[in-house]
Amino acid sequence: MKDKNFFITTPIYYPSGHPHMGHAYSSIIADVFARFKRNDGFNVFFLTGTDEHGLKIQKSAEKSNLDPLTYCNNISKVFKDLSLQLNLSIDDFIRTTEERHKNSVNDLWNRLVKSGDIYLSKYKGWYSVSDEAYYNEDEIIDKNGKKISSFSGSAVEWVEEESYFFKLSAWEKKLLNFYEKNEKFIFPLSRRNEVINFVKNGLKDLSVSRTSFTWGIKVPNNNHHVIYVWLDALTNYLSALNYPDINNKLYKDFWPASLHVIGKDILRFHAIYWPAFLLAANIEPPKRVFGHGWILSGDEKMSKSRGNILNPIEIIDDYGIDEMRYYLMKEVSHGSDGNISIQNLKNCINSDLANNYGNLCQRVFSFIKNNCNNTVNKKGDYSQNDKKIISETNNLSKNLRMLIDNQNLNNYIKSVIGISFLTNKYINDEEPWKLKKSNINKMNNILHLSLVQIAKISILLNPIMPKSTSKVLDALNINLKDRNYSFLDGNKIIPDKIKISALNILFKKIDK
Ligand code: MSP
Repeated sequence: MKDKNFFITTPIYYPSGHPHMGHAYSSIIADVFARFKRNDGFNVFFLTGTDEHGLKIQKSAEKSNLDPLTYCNNISKVFKDLSLQLNLSIDDFIRTTEERHKNSVNDLWNRLVKSGDIYLSKYKGWYSVSDEAYYNEDEIIDKNGKKISSFSGSAVEWVEEESYFFKLSAWEKKLLNFYEKNEKFIFPLSRRNEVINFVKNGLKDLSVSRTSFTWGIKVPNNNHHVIYVWLDALTNYLSALNYPDINNKLYKDFWPASLHVIGKDILRFHAIYWPAFLLAANIEPPKRVFGHGWILSGDEKMSKSRGNILNPIEIIDDYGIDEMRYYLMKEVSHGSDGNISIQNLKNCINSDLANNYGNLCQRVFSFIKNNCNNTVNKKGDYSQNDKKIISETNNLSKNLRMLIDNQNLNNYIKSVIGISFLTNKYINDEEPWKLKKSNINKMNNILHLSLVQIAKISILLNPIMPKSTSKVLDALNINLKDRNYSFLDGNKIIPDKIKISALNILFKKIDK
């Protein structure tokens, strides 16, 4: 049964400012996978939360004249509310300031000390507060007299202080071995190559504690030090499963995690440090890390510090949550960066939703309401044209599970919207409205097949647009428990005789 369990996570967010589209993007991708797997009969645990320790948060709190915990309580709530507004189907929301998390970090730390992977020394080098990351000398460049990281573009500062170190250098070969044995650990493959090259260039031991500020989890037995925020934050994935109680049901069912969804900027932490910590602590690493690209605004990463933020809440208010979810998932291609704009959002809503999927549902439902008293009855065999669209739909559906398992949402959506396009064309060609008098059986069969197509498309789009597709599935009177992908294995999706209910307009066309 364990392979029917699916543990999926988003990165836990720094509550250091207001959420933007990049955050929303990361969460929605994970939500789509979580929902797809649930619809496909998996037992899913979907986790998100907030990453509340470290210098970045301490500084943000100081700026707001609040003590760090009060500050975090406020902003963590903003992110929790966001998860509702984005309609994330989360099973838990973890905060790193919670006791359950502190216990788990302490335990992991003690394990690393016990295994001999942590030692005390002195750190001298570059640190970026905004990335909460250490950088090597060869990753630093000079820009307008300021030192920045060539990797992220963030400002760095020179740090010299006593620090505990994790013996990352000792894990170089073992990590390379691990990547080789687990070919699908890092997705997409371009990111895997990036990580392997970085590790092959040599790993230095990693500073895992700080003494120059206090906002963090104290190092067990040495409270001058706080634990490095990334060692702290990554452990949230274990804390939510009640680690270190490894005999409890959540941990037993869900560890190792099936999929960490993250942005490419935090790949190093998830694909190098995290498996190294876990291997050293003798805990099985996660099965997959998927590094998606960035949401860009005018060729730059959307971020608070660049001031080019699109506010997801405003977009939801103006255009609707399903519309925004669909646009983001469709527009940004598999693992690459994607430029988003309001104009493209409008075009996408009009072409794919209002004119294609929405129009398909509307025209079929209103025709059946006006001409068939809401009831359609399939009788006898399919025509050649019916068989043709069934086989074309089967072709487009063949790889859908695989596309989801490869996190290739882009091609998934293209295939599904392709089915919708085909179905609109099928109706145009078959002209059921002309058959009302001459061939009522044939008309019924065409309408029935159109409803089958609508049901399939709606279930396939359900993880992306849960609200609108549920309206359609409700109107088709399909039970909740039957909204699954068993039709991909040849099962019937609606009965031969079907009564439908009223369906209101799903997507309004938007003026440009
Ligand atoms: N707190 C860390 C994650 C710790 S996980 C153990 C963090 N937080 S974050 O709030 O800065 O970012 C959260 C997620 O949003 C990351 O996956 C990051 O890549 C993603 N994005 C932030 N800006 C983004 C874009 N402009 N585009 C797409 N995603 C980006 O990192």
